[in-house]
Amino acid sequence: MKIYLVGYMGSGKSTIGPLLAEVLSYKFIDFDTYITQKEGMSISEIFKNKGEIYFRKSESTYLQQLLEEESEQVVVALGGGTPCYGTNLQVLKDSDAQTVYLNWHFKTLAQRLWSAKEERPLIASMQSYEDLENYVRKHLFERGFYYNQSDLVLKIEDQSPQEVVDS
Ligand code: S3P
Repeated sequence: MKIYLVGYMGSGKSTIGPLLAEVLSYKFIDFDTYITQKEGMSISEIFKNKGEIYFRKSESTYLQQLLEEESEQVVVALGGGTPCYGTNLQVLKDSDAQTVYLNWHFKTLAQRLWSAKEERPLIASMQSYEDLENYVRKHLFERGFYYNQSDLVLKIEDQSPQEVVDS
């Protein structure tokens, strides 16, 4: 099986993904790292040097590439925006990947992102916690349309990464 983890920034895709892969004895791929390696630049550098539109186009190209090249038994942590742009959601639906949405409350996501915003270009310049929380609330609402079309929606409240994997 190919398992693709979907969810907002800070939802733990890159923490839960390797744990799940280990339990299943699958390979783990972090899609942001995949893009970084292909482009020879960090995600922040891609946004800064080439802009978000370039990043979104590359993200779509690499998603198709990854789906084609990866055989079974892989867990992939997608980027927070991956299913929400261009035809990516349809591409995922048409593929043999099972998508799993890690669905957290916006307040929890904002708390987690406040100390981890520097490496995330969309929120790096947020000045106050209140601004960040407002942004996350609205953005998550918009993106929920895409995320909720995943094959499995896991509503997470206060479980640890290991408990999420076990569930
Ligand atoms: C993004 C999420 C990031 C990364 C890029 C854009 C987004 O991935 O792909 O900064 O649009 O939500 P993470 O969800 O791994 O932080």
